[in-house]
Amino acid sequence: MDTATDTPIDPPGGTAVDVGSLRERALATLVTARDRTTLLTSCVDGPELTSQVSPLMSPLVWDLAHIGNQEEQWLLRAVAGQEAIRPEIDSLYDAFEHPRSERPELPLLSPAEARRYAADVRGRALDVLESTAFHGTRLTEAGFAFGMIAQHEQQHDETMLITHQLRRGPRVLSAPDPDPVPLYTGPAEVLVPGGPFTMGTSTEPWALDNERPAHRREVAPFFIDTTPVTNGAYQAFIDDGGYDDPRWWTPQGWDHIRRHSVTAPLFWRRDGAQWLRRRFGVIEVVPADEPVVHVCWYEADAWARWAGRRLPTEAEWEKAARYDPAGDRSARYPWGDADPGPDHANLGQRHLRPAPAGSYPAGESPLGVRQLIGDVWEWTSSDFTPYPGFRAFPYKEYSEVFFGPEYKVLRGGSFAVDAVACRGTFRNWDYPIRRQIFSGFRTARTAEAS
Ligand code: AVJ
Ligand code: FE
Repeated sequence: MDTATDTPIDPPGGTAVDVGSLRERALATLVTARDRTTLLTSCVDGPELTSQVSPLMSPLVWDLAHIGNQEEQWLLRAVAGQEAIRPEIDSLYDAFEHPRSERPELPLLSPAEARRYAADVRGRALDVLESTAFHGTRLTEAGFAFGMIAQHEQQHDETMLITHQLRRGPRVLSAPDPDPVPLYTGPAEVLVPGGPFTMGTSTEPWALDNERPAHRREVAPFFIDTTPVTNGAYQAFIDDGGYDDPRWWTPQGWDHIRRHSVTAPLFWRRDGAQWLRRRFGVIEVVPADEPVVHVCWYEADAWARWAGRRLPTEAEWEKAARYDPAGDRSARYPWGDADPGPDHANLGQRHLRPAPAGSYPAGESPLGVRQLIGDVWEWTSSDFTPYPGFRAFPYKEYSEVFFGPEYKVLRGGSFAVDAVACRGTFRNWDYPIRRQIFSGFRTARTAEAS
């Protein structure tokens, strides 16, 4: 239904990025990421850093040294041409050499060594940052490598937060809850007009390879939910026997939930008439007005079918998030080109949960769609595929090796992702069975062409 044209073009409106401040921004984002890494790896003790809470996750100490190793490879070796500090450890921290399930058995750096290594790399990387021109090579243009490494660290910080959520035991992390909001009473869905829009970017300096290049994409008119689907709405599906009715599920989804006895979102447990959930070591009643989180693609897809709707395609999601009918252009974010602030979106682990549906009116799109950025990653119906004109950069293992029908695209970012790794063009992907991630969804339906 979405057709891409192969001619890469620049977005008509350009962007509001101030190139002069990129060096300060690079420094600030690296510092923010390291503060968060430090928090996530210092709130549990040594044995918990080296053990594994789930075969799906690395020991936290692996993430920590891997963060340092990626930074060493890209900022010290690739950008600055330095020799490897500890060449013998590269293969331990190569995500492709060792699947997550094997990582606790590896001769990893101890927590103290991993901290020292990451700090050593960081000290040198800040020297490199000071002395590197932000132009001349593709890697250093506009500080791309520094932005890429800050994003990489923040992505692993989100991964480590997932590990914390999976971990048993009492709470070790805390954060204030999002502000309560009046119950959202706006329209449940809005019409996004059909026609071409600019998808992807060729101008956002730190956009990763899979977001490029900008290209025109034709999208038929569709309706999209103004908020993510809530726990309350999701519970109605459970109460209606949704998990016992094969009509709502794809054959693969049905097979998967039967085989693995999936009957509710991950971390949910029925308690008489109500549902409870464990969140970062605390048991609570599932809050009805909060976006549902920890559902897999199959569950999102089934819920949508039950509701007489469907998941949006990735192009529909991005058009809803970026298209401004007034200027006929694509903005960086739903609210415009300004960087995300605390009134726009729930990002950066400021809270340890999504905000109630209808929050962040200042972050809504011109058409009135809320919470596209932050709160929960949103499953789309689309497979993870390259845009026309895609070129792997700077390494094939970031995106290219994952392209294909096994992965579904998620958009918009969760409460657990930092603003540096989240924008209207940002693409995430995972297997359709995964639900330890902070994944939710919203739905769409095709509009009759008038
Ligand atoms: C983009 C979140 C799917 O965690 O596998 C981290 C990000 N790539 N290190 C992942 C990533 C390399 C990636 N995702
Ligand atoms: Fe990584």
